[in-house]
Amino acid sequence: MTTTYAVLSEGLEKRYGDVHALRGLDLAVAEGAVCGVLGPNGAGKTTAVRVLTTLTAPDGGSARVAGHDVVREAGAVRAAIGVTGQSASVDGELSGRQNLRLFARLLTYRGEAARTRADELLERFELTDAADRPARTYSGGMRRRLDLAASLLARPRVLFLDEPTTGLDPHSRNQIWAAVRELAGRGTTVLLTTQYLEEADQLADEIVLIDSGRAAHTGSPAELKAGIGSYAEVVVAHASALGAAAAVLDHLTGTEPVLDPERRTVGAVTTDPSLTLPRIVRELDAAGAAVIDASLRPPTLDEVFLRLTGRGTPIKETAA
Ligand SMILES: Nc1ncnc2c1ncn2[C@@H]1O[C@H](COP(=O)(O)OP(=O)(O)O)[C@@H](O)[C@H]1O
Ligand SMILES: [Mg+2]
Repeated sequence: MTTTYAVLSEGLEKRYGDVHALRGLDLAVAEGAVCGVLGPNGAGKTTAVRVLTTLTAPDGGSARVAGHDVVREAGAVRAAIGVTGQSASVDGELSGRQNLRLFARLLTYRGEAARTRADELLERFELTDAADRPARTYSGGMRRRLDLAASLLARPRVLFLDEPTTGLDPHSRNQIWAAVRELAGRGTTVLLTTQYLEEADQLADEIVLIDSGRAAHTGSPAELKAGIGSYAEVVVAHASALGAAAAVLDHLTGTEPVLDPERRTVGAVTTDPSLTLPRIVRELDAAGAAVIDASLRPPTLDEVFLRLTGRGTPIKETAA
């Protein structure tokens, strides 16, 4: 059986002056799949989306989207895709309804059809009540929803979403997640970037972890999580108990604990599904390490990174 790839890139390279944003990025997204490109700030996610959506040319490697080369057949790629960026592409002076009708007409819907399609999407994204207000008065979540609605007008074969939920309230985030699931259900291929492990876990069939412009790890959410396990962290009553607590965690998890004397915490990754919180607390107690708080939780992106790349996430850029 042959798989048809909606997105296929090989060795993509992109430099901005001295910054090597993409260093040989390989991606393969099967037709109809949802691919989550997961990575911290500065990993190269937006650059990858820009190259794949023909907004910027790669300096090396190649990529095909919907079967077309992003450099030589950029027009055909553009005709097959939708893009929702981190900053909305809607016109703030126009109302939500006017924005969508304008997009619809640009996409060759005529008169009545443009109006009907715009109204359907306003309803779909719970924007009907605000439909006639200028978009600049919308909240961040509403603007993001309007932006996604605009990108759905064209019923694209492949939809690119660059951090679609970063900074959104939970309600807006859930609406975006529902829209992504619905689109996927209708056969649209979705490539979304995210800094949230949970988001990739919820939505993606396959997660590509990117680190400094290349794919550091690729697999299903289950594979990724099985590989990284969960994170046990305890807070001890006195810094003097850190050593004893670390020895217990080391013994229980078989991984090297991380100590933070300032917060009086010791944490360690565990891939043992039978390791429970009560057992951790019991053993700490038996070792005489007084614990005031303990948790066993899914790892954060930083911990996934540490685990899969052997080092921490790159220094976070401050938001512009
Ligand atoms: N237009 C640009 N000029 C110079 N450097 C850039 C530009 N765009 C991105 N970069 C740099 O390229 C790297 C990757 O950035 P980006 O693709 O935006 O990452 P992400 O979207 O994962 O946060 C970062 O080091 C960033 O500072
Ligand atoms: Mg980005």
